[in-house]
Amino acid sequence: MPPWPSGDAAALLPVYRRRPVTFVRGKGTRLFDAEGREYLDFLSGLSVTSLGHAHPAVADAVAAQARTLVHVSNLFVTEPQVILAERLAATLGWPDGRAFFANSGAEANEAAIKLARRHGRRQHAGKVKVVALHGGFHGRLLGPLLLTGDPAKHAPFQPLGDWVTHVAYDDPQQLAAAVDRDTCAVWVEVVQGEGGVRPVPAAVLAAARRGLRPPRRAARRRRGPDRPRPARALVRLAGHRRRARCRVPGQGPRQRAADRRDRRARCRRWRLRAGRPCEHVRRRAGGGGRRARRRRHDRTRRSRGARRRDGPAAGGTAGGAHRRSSPLVAGVRGRGLLQALVLTAPVAGAVAAAALDAGLVVNDVAPDAVRLAPALLIDDADLDEMAALLARALTEVRSLDGG
Ligand SMILES: Cc1ncc(COP(=O)(O)O)c(C=O)c1O
Repeated sequence: MPPWPSGDAAALLPVYRRRPVTFVRGKGTRLFDAEGREYLDFLSGLSVTSLGHAHPAVADAVAAQARTLVHVSNLFVTEPQVILAERLAATLGWPDGRAFFANSGAEANEAAIKLARRHGRRQHAGKVKVVALHGGFHGRLLGPLLLTGDPAKHAPFQPLGDWVTHVAYDDPQQLAAAVDRDTCAVWVEVVQGEGGVRPVPAAVLAAARRGLRPPRRAARRRRGPDRPRPARALVRLAGHRRRARCRVPGQGPRQRAADRRDRRARCRRWRLRAGRPCEHVRRRAGGGGRRARRRRHDRTRRSRGARRRDGPAAGGTAGGAHRRSSPLVAGVRGRGLLQALVLTAPVAGAVAAAALDAGLVVNDVAPDAVRLAPALLIDDADLDEMAALLARALTEVRSLDGG
């Protein structure tokens, strides 16, 4: 059936600006269109396919699970859920952490909004407001849409409510002034991807943390009936939370430890029966603490072909190589492998289109910024090829521009 030369099909709602290519398969860092033409993928499905396309480990895991058990609803616990939740808690270093699994980023944000507002309401009824940053993107459900710092995206769906205040992404004072006793959360996309790959300054993160921290010291100094109510409420909450939890039958620390032991024992039995060591057994058999596990994890990633690449590798190749060769390039910005080529003119759309013509998939996230978001598997040859294809696209746009 493919291709659809316009990049769109009558059966699909035209909600996105689509490019005139129909991809039919992918392998590693490569995509192939319906005519068999190969493209280098530096978009990764908007930073989703971090192990590239059709990675055998991912494909095998998905196929094995699909053959074993697909869905039992959220009324039941399944073993993979528990293993993943425990691994997340261990990775984050939150031994008491609990996971909530969602199907998308927007749903994860929606759940986090609910948690924050529910928690705030327990302190006082009006504590349901959120401060978010201009330029942040948080998803397409109504809650995350309102948090998204782009008024043009709100306009068609108003009214969305008035519980969000937006402040500049780089102004700690503005953020500090916006956080008050009714603020239950500050929503930050630490590197604003859709907003142009703009890292939020550390001072803004610190201001968010300071603004939300319970004023414990003030509470300790001023005892008695005139102590500020919000401080008292927060201190009471902090002091009583653990005891309150212990009183709930079946939820105290002893019960949780027993549950964990039981889960591990069941899991070990199940895995040993299936002929594979259980995750918990493996963790102990491998020995060592977090650092040893990190080393083993890195070894596994390397053995599967994933390379550690730092940001300057991707961004530096793109920016450094062209700064000298094209007057259209102002520089690069970003963190890690998420980088933007920043242009001296608002021609990012034309550069992304010319790059696609040349065989490189990237996207324009601002009028003057082209995003580079490759899979973690890229190697030096991919980087060199990306730089050459981008150079071709920049030259093409310059010549069209008459520059
Ligand atoms: C920072 C951020 N948060 C949330 C989302 C929404 O994720 P999803 O598209 O999976 O709903 C995105 C998607 O691009 C994102 O970039």
